[in-house]
Amino acid sequence: MKHLFIAGNWKSNKTSGDASAWLEKFSATWENATVVLCASFTILGPLQWQMKQKGLSIELAAQDVSPFGEGAYTGEVSGRQVKEYANWVLIGHSERRKHFGETDEVLAKKVEQAKLTGLKIIYCVQDANIAVPAGVDVVAYEPYFAIGTGQSDTPENANAVIAGIKAKTQVSTVIYGGSVTHENVASFISQESIDGVLPGGASLDPEKFAKLIEAASA
Ligand code: PGA
Repeated sequence: MKHLFIAGNWKSNKTSGDASAWLEKFSATWENATVVLCASFTILGPLQWQMKQKGLSIELAAQDVSPFGEGAYTGEVSGRQVKEYANWVLIGHSERRKHFGETDEVLAKKVEQAKLTGLKIIYCVQDANIAVPAGVDVVAYEPYFAIGTGQSDTPENANAVIAGIKAKTQVSTVIYGGSVTHENVASFISQESIDGVLPGGASLDPEKFAKLIEAASA
């Protein structure tokens, strides 16, 4: 049985109060899976503390990191600052590329900074032709057309793209993101090359996210 990687991406949602309410309602059991929550910088601290109290084995990820180290970079959050609260960082999400003009060059610098501070990296690519910087731990294939649209890629095509990414990059954990729900997750997980999923919208509701994890790891 393959080890699954499931990363919920909350995007710019949830205050610390919302996150507490989510944690109160979240209850799931799983085996053979790493479960990660990608949350805003402002709630990583409260989430870390509350998950520890609850004994919840979910790991935390930031959704971005500065391409610079510590210093005079107003508004940026450095890798060292992230590492205080999270083990993971999501880099290159399609929304960062689309709305914030992040280029492969900037993203490579973010990867470099993340590596320097010991953060593990989930690196997003929107097709098989996008270069993956060295040192990335997990690659997420998330095609633009499928993000937040309710129109996921087909499991067969996602599997073919992911097999191509694995052959090209030597990264052994490659996951699929784009309109994944508890209803369709099994169809992706059952594909040979797909190691997990990156649900956005479906991670916002604690009950739906629990169902998704359980459907994936069943
Ligand atoms: P979605 O987001 O599940 O809401 O489509 C996926 C993603 O953030 O990659």
